[in-house]
Amino acid sequence: MPQKTEKLGRVLITGGTGFIGSNLVRNLTASGSAARIAVLDNEVLGNRSVLDGYDVEFIHGDIRDETTVRDAVKRSDTIVHLAADTRVMDSIENPAFNYENNVLGSVNLLLAMREFGVARLVNASTGGAILGEVPPPVHEDMVPRPLSPYGAAKLAVEGYCSAFAASYGLKIVSLRFSNVYGPLSFHKGSVVAAFLRNIMAGKPVTIYGDGSQIRDYVYVNDLCNGIVAALNSGVDGIYQLGTGIPTTLNELVVKMRDVTGHNNPFEVIYEDSRKGEIKDTYCNIDKARDAFGFNPDTSLPEGLTNTWNWFLDQRS
Ligand SMILES: NC(=O)c1ccc[n+]([C@@H]2O[C@H](COP(=O)([O-])OP(=O)(O)OC[C@H]3O[C@@H](n4cnc5c(N)ncnc54)[C@H](O)[C@@H]3O)[C@@H](O)[C@H]2O)c1
Repeated sequence: MPQKTEKLGRVLITGGTGFIGSNLVRNLTASGSAARIAVLDNEVLGNRSVLDGYDVEFIHGDIRDETTVRDAVKRSDTIVHLAADTRVMDSIENPAFNYENNVLGSVNLLLAMREFGVARLVNASTGGAILGEVPPPVHEDMVPRPLSPYGAAKLAVEGYCSAFAASYGLKIVSLRFSNVYGPLSFHKGSVVAAFLRNIMAGKPVTIYGDGSQIRDYVYVNDLCNGIVAALNSGVDGIYQLGTGIPTTLNELVVKMRDVTGHNNPFEVIYEDSRKGEIKDTYCNIDKARDAFGFNPDTSLPEGLTNTWNWFLDQRS
């Protein structure tokens, strides 16, 4: 039984009904490291039903709405900012919306933190989309060159976080997540969720490109442990969170064949690669390991098995 420390005080999670947020609620509840958990989400992608059975205050609201944000922030000690328009392809279709939602919404949050003296924030950022096409492993000292409006918005928010930390004494850490997968991801368009959904429905899976593209797949509970460890250690600045292990899409498919049934013969369709998606990325996680003991130790087969079992449970 973990010790109940409640060290983080009252934790506000924006986007807390989404994939990572709902996993973080479970993680914080199990570790007892929050005195109280509140979730602020407009439910465009998530849904409050994922919080059923958890002791959480749910606030239906939008991070672009100043009044809602001020009211939620002033009753918090620690904020984990996950709310975002998270789809790279949607950001290419509608960059204005992505800017308004992700940049203006985040600045709203920072303004409220400044106003009410709420100092501690984890900002969910991204490695690949910010850095663009650079030789992996990616690390925190690389020069960013985003390829999509989503990446540009995440970079802008990192900039505002840095500025608010320096100008107003806020304690902010931007964590650059690699490709996160795991339970509670049914609504996600990301590759593991999309493939498992199709496999479950007996449909083919589609790979854009030849399948040699490299990604770094990190299991969601390892990532949540990283978020909590970063908060507990009091670090600020920028950290990459992933596994440091490169996996090609074709290798992922082989692992999925194992996990979803003995050499499951689901069909794979190859189509042209899409604009805005980087070819190869995985990250160097030494900085996070050294600073707050980040230790993602769930193997890909183990994490995929947990995820697949969760998907199967949804069917019943
Ligand atoms: N999942 C990944 O692989 C990954 C990788 C890198 C970075 N990230 C970042 O981590 C964060 C969480 O990602 P996720 O995978 O849980 O995404 P998600 O899409 O599952 O969750 C995002 C949540 O934010 C909410 N939301 C969106 N706009 C909002 C607004 N204006 N006001 C209030 N709520 C709003 C949505 O309803 C949803 O519940 C995001 O900031 C994302 O960019 C995720």
